[in-house]
Amino acid sequence: MARIVILTGAGISAESGLRTFRAADGLWENHRIEDVATPEGFARDPELVLRFYNERRGRHQVLVVTQNVDALHERTGTRALIHMHGTLGGALCATCGHRWPAPAVMRVTAPCPACAARAARPDIVWFSEMPYRMEEIWTALRAADLFVSIGTSGNVYPAAGFVADARHTGVETLELNLEPSMGTRLFDAARHGPATQVVPAWVAEMLA
Ligand code: OAD
Repeated sequence: MARIVILTGAGISAESGLRTFRAADGLWENHRIEDVATPEGFARDPELVLRFYNERRGRHQVLVVTQNVDALHERTGTRALIHMHGTLGGALCATCGHRWPAPAVMRVTAPCPACAARAARPDIVWFSEMPYRMEEIWTALRAADLFVSIGTSGNVYPAAGFVADARHTGVETLELNLEPSMGTRLFDAARHGPATQVVPAWVAEMLA
């Protein structure tokens, strides 16, 4: 088996719109490195230094609401994440509502670890059931500056209704999808193409 150690630096983030430390002008985001990245600089002007890092930290607040039940968002490090349709990794007791990590193979005879009922089911929201954490989602959606819908056909409600709700509250809306979705006309803007192309292009613009 090959053992691999990887060291990364600012260059790996450069194409995501974050400037490297040593650009041609020798400045970091228009500041001299001595002013914002040394103890002496902090002693000289702490307000400037804190403002500088606050800006780096707080540019965007992103909540990802996914209809997907796989764990790919977690694997890419997405921190604020709502699985509105549940997860493949979860088991749910249909009797008492207890949740626990699903074994790789679930069996109908397996008892619930909390109430012992033989009523274990995948922790997935099925058709006709109410998706999870909807209050939280509506609240975040209505407070947002921008709603972006990525890779969804817009066939399944309530997710398909987010664009209309956002629009109604004055939230800007953008669709990124391979092809026009069912509700494409409701979006302020739409870019169509593979996610590997349209998403990084949009992210780079946002971070620029
Ligand atoms: P769909 O399968 O309905 O739609 C997937 C969308 O992704 C389509 O509009 C495709 O054009 C687009 N697409 C495909 N490849 C793409 C690519 N490389 N880049 C960008 N877009 C691409 O899936 P969802 O809309 O997510 O619910 O389906 C919603 C819900 O319906 C699911 O969560 C599931 C399902 O029934 C439940 O199980 C409750």
